[in-house]
Amino acid sequence: MNHQSSLTAKEAVDSIESAVNTESHLRRAHAIGVAFDATFQPTGAAVPWTTAAHLQQTEVPAVVRFSHSSPSRKSNEQLNPVKGMAVRFQLFDGTFTNLTMANIPIFISKTPDSFIRLIQAFDSSSTWSQRIDALIHDTEYKAFGSIIKELQPFRNFESLHYYSIHAYYLRNEELQRQAVRFEWQPLPQNDDGNVNNSMENELIHKVKLDQSIRFRLLIQFAEPGDAIDDPTIAWPDDREKIEAGILTLKSLRADNAESFIFDPTVTIEGIECSDDPILHFRSKAYAESAKRRGVR
Ligand code: HEM
Repeated sequence: MNHQSSLTAKEAVDSIESAVNTESHLRRAHAIGVAFDATFQPTGAAVPWTTAAHLQQTEVPAVVRFSHSSPSRKSNEQLNPVKGMAVRFQLFDGTFTNLTMANIPIFISKTPDSFIRLIQAFDSSSTWSQRIDALIHDTEYKAFGSIIKELQPFRNFESLHYYSIHAYYLRNEELQRQAVRFEWQPLPQNDDGNVNNSMENELIHKVKLDQSIRFRLLIQFAEPGDAIDDPTIAWPDDREKIEAGILTLKSLRADNAESFIFDPTVTIEGIECSDDPILHFRSKAYAESAKRRGVR
């Protein structure tokens, strides 16, 4: 499929830079975050659908980065409800695959162009009425508006539920293909150790105290007729989900994963990307952002 957008990744990142105060060495979105080493223990429940190594029976190491979505260090994180959770599964043959998710079940727009139009509408030179016009008059943004309104006030990264938003295909030994979406569901934890100064410090504190911060990897199965390549449409709630494994945070990473690029199109045998144009655009935008922050 043609994933071309009339917009280039360079133009997209330029638009972010002109709308928000970014810093040269930080990511051009999700600039501030905290990273941990982790382990992922698969349940084996996904084996009939995929040959992917980390979804079989053997535990694999992983790197996890939680982030605030703003491209700016200066934004008020308490007013910004969208948070990210990026996971890299590190496989024993030296390859890896990423899941780069957010705590929203759908995305704001169907195409990169309309997402960037929205960022431009929020350029520092725009007036509030121009911003509101951009949101109200573009029907694409309506479903997302209601999701944002329903987001619960958040306390910390570790109690949020994260979604891949995009669909991927699982492929098994018989080469059968099944469209799926991924989710991280937080497991209940002991809430001691709330240090109350930042979401990052609270999580670091809990991991140090070994408070068993864990997430369950859920895989949701599409049925015929479900939107596969459109990240703005959720699948019905009654779609089957399986529990594919448990992620456990182990220790804070000294390098804070600053040199990582959690490109969501990096997959391994047994997992394939859907044709969602936003998914493929992300790969190019992340590479452009990485280049500008000095990572290759
Ligand atoms: C056209 C749409 C999008 C654009 C242009 C975009 C742009 C970016 C950029 C430039 C970065 C910084 C990458 C880096 O320097 O490594 C980033 C990071 C991130 N984005 Fe997106 N993004 C888009 C859609 C999404 C969606 C749909 C999600 C959630 C499913 C998402 C979640 C994240 C997360 C969690 C990070 C931080 C990754 C990390 O910890 O390194 N983004 N995005």
